[in-house]
Amino acid sequence: MARPQHFGWFLSRGFGPHGWGRPDWEWGYDWRRPDLYQQSVRTLEQAGLDLLIIEDALSAGSPGTLDLRVRGAYGGPKHDPLMLAPYLLDASERIGIVPTVNVGAVLPYTAARQLATLHHLSAGRAGVNVVTDVSSARHLGQERLGHDAAYDRADDWISAIEELWSSWSPGAVVEDVATGRYADASRISTSRHDGEYFRLEGPLNAMPFDDGAPLIASPGGSPRGIAFAGAHSDVQLALARLDIDSLRGYRQRVLDAAAEHDRQEAIRTLFVLKPQLVASSQEADRLVAASARPEEADLARIAQAWSSDAETDLTRLDLDAPLGPGVFGEHVSRGTIAGLRGKHAEDPDAPLREILAQHARLGRLSERRGFVGTAEELADFIEEAGEHAGSDGFLFSGDLHPVTVHRMLDDLVPALRRRGILRREHPPGGVGANLRDF
Ligand SMILES: Cc1cc2nc3c(=O)[nH]c(=O)nc-3n(C[C@H](O)[C@H](O)[C@H](O)COP(=O)(O)O)c2cc1C
Repeated sequence: MARPQHFGWFLSRGFGPHGWGRPDWEWGYDWRRPDLYQQSVRTLEQAGLDLLIIEDALSAGSPGTLDLRVRGAYGGPKHDPLMLAPYLLDASERIGIVPTVNVGAVLPYTAARQLATLHHLSAGRAGVNVVTDVSSARHLGQERLGHDAAYDRADDWISAIEELWSSWSPGAVVEDVATGRYADASRISTSRHDGEYFRLEGPLNAMPFDDGAPLIASPGGSPRGIAFAGAHSDVQLALARLDIDSLRGYRQRVLDAAAEHDRQEAIRTLFVLKPQLVASSQEADRLVAASARPEEADLARIAQAWSSDAETDLTRLDLDAPLGPGVFGEHVSRGTIAGLRGKHAEDPDAPLREILAQHARLGRLSERRGFVGTAEELADFIEEAGEHAGSDGFLFSGDLHPVTVHRMLDDLVPALRRRGILRREHPPGGVGANLRDF
């Protein structure tokens, strides 16, 4: 049997209009109502996935970027995933639900209390994906911090939360009807947290945890991001080139960061994966061949999607003119521009058509040149990642729409289960215990 791995789903565009612009929209789900996600999350649980992570961003955009973000629903509207979490926890029994929270938006005391409440309500299945994005600072009446300062604030935020979660010592909850005493205040610490960003007093007025604590996930891949994960996270959401050496290298960086805090056993690195699964290798070959010559409509769709992320209207530019650096404003993330330019990162003369076309081109899983293939071919890759990169597992990325979920998992679940890579049942104890199971 192959090495078992953990799997999850990353709802990559957050709690927003699912299926918009695709034929799936005709299924008639209302993205604002819980049933779409509840139905999907039950399928993820039946499929043996350990957790669902829900992306979030606070902002619909600035006056200059609003239209780019909302016109194709790529960047908004978005509703708050923390509010969706109880509906999903109630509709499921074993899977972990991990909404994203921006540390600038919620005070540590409030977050500690909300997450503790969800942890108790769900018997240990709640978590939080901690993000440091500062582009929405203006909505919160805050100064925009720099990259590293935002991580310093996140460190301070999570440390305050961890202190609040441990403010009730063992034995603080007495529950002795005979003496009429519910709790013992002498075992509850009122100590202060005096950080650079947050100064506050305990104790938390939520119950302590019998076992574990809400799951902490984090996605930052910079050295600061990985240092944060090493110190605090149970799960690192990793975006990397998906070749065996890159997987091994990224996971090792996370383990090295965790070793600084003696936490190597506590953390799992899960790689984000968005395969295009088809029924046969002939169909995969056909798709890959067709993608070498993208049509104008394909390029327009890609330009539209990147316009939202790059906060720059690419759809109005001449496809055959070079995409010079002056097109982008100062506020646009350098990482996003590098991602868009791809292999043309160092070539200012590359025309937009060529830059967009590379995002249309697909590659075959069986040749390790891309992620188009059959479920068995994907299972081969996942098995290889487990055997040769020590992979802890993967997060499938996409909408949380029943059509997307079934398209991804229908044939993959049997392929992975037959190999012993995907669990058949979840042990009791919540999402943290599930992830530490192997
Ligand atoms: C897989 C993945 C998921 C992410 N999810 C979110 C998110 O939900 N909300 C958000 O504001 N940023 C999200 N980010 C952005 C990160 O929080 C971070 O800002 C970005 O990766 C840059 O950080 P770095 O410089 O440490 O790599 C995500 C990044 C990755 C790679």
